[in-house]
Amino acid sequence: MIQKKPRMHVLSKWVKTKALLGSDEVRQYIPDTRRLSKSSLKTMLKSYGMVYVKPEKGTYGKGVIRVEQRGKDEYSYQLGTKEKDFWDYETFYLSLLRETNKRSYLIQKGIHLVKYKKLRFDIRVMVQLSPKGVWETTGLIGRVAHPEKIVTNYHSGGKIMDVKRLFGEHLSTNEMEKVMHKLDNLGVATARHLHKKYPGIRQIGLDIGFDHSWIPWIIEVNTNPDPYIFNKLSDKSMYRKVMRYRRAALK
Ligand SMILES: Nc1ncnc2c1ncn2[C@@H]1O[C@H](COP(=O)(O)OP(=O)(O)OP(=O)(O)O)[C@@H](O)[C@H]1O
Ligand SMILES: [Mg+2]
Repeated sequence: MIQKKPRMHVLSKWVKTKALLGSDEVRQYIPDTRRLSKSSLKTMLKSYGMVYVKPEKGTYGKGVIRVEQRGKDEYSYQLGTKEKDFWDYETFYLSLLRETNKRSYLIQKGIHLVKYKKLRFDIRVMVQLSPKGVWETTGLIGRVAHPEKIVTNYHSGGKIMDVKRLFGEHLSTNEMEKVMHKLDNLGVATARHLHKKYPGIRQIGLDIGFDHSWIPWIIEVNTNPDPYIFNKLSDKSMYRKVMRYRRAALK
């Protein structure tokens, strides 16, 4: 079978972030993001205490680093399962810079993610152009981080889980419905906005992390989202819809 290529793929997280900041509806859910430099990291750590440093063009959670400032001169970072502590900014920054391998990196305000059984999770929201040409949220799926990792990606040992099961630990049925409705709307608003700028896109996947006030932060938007993660749920109805829309879009 010939696999047709998606119509449009925007790789740079920086370009995508800037595009999303152009939407009045979406902007409030985008965590503060800067390009990595010695001074921008210092400023971001001062403002937020914890940040994520990640490759501008990364995938699968590879190269994603969680950075924290604890005391006045106490810094630490975690990459994969490796954790390092430092007691001065210069040594800390040089060590971090070595991990980036001279690639272009961004800094994003860190979200203290709501957890499920003490494990961080985030939500993948699949939004697709319907066969009738209307943007629709077609899938919601939870991704729970491996206990020793700072990313939730399936390719980094994360587990796929039903969103209701994840939300159920914290929310009533009524609250859960509201949160899911909000994700649905946010997904569609994001897709409509990006589509104006990139008319070639047919589907997007939003990575949404909740903080403890249940604000849905847009960690990133993928323009080539993996549809097969939905096949990992025992209920196949979402997977079938996602694939149906995908087939129609690739025609
Ligand atoms: N600002 C943040 N706050 C909290 N967690 C974050 C933040 N940024 C990233 N993460 C965690 O790291 C994971 C990977 O980050 P991100 O999605 O930005 O890059 P990527 O996964 O490498 O890209 P792709 O999804 O295209 O493969 C997220 O799913 C999330 O679990
Ligand atoms: Mg991601």
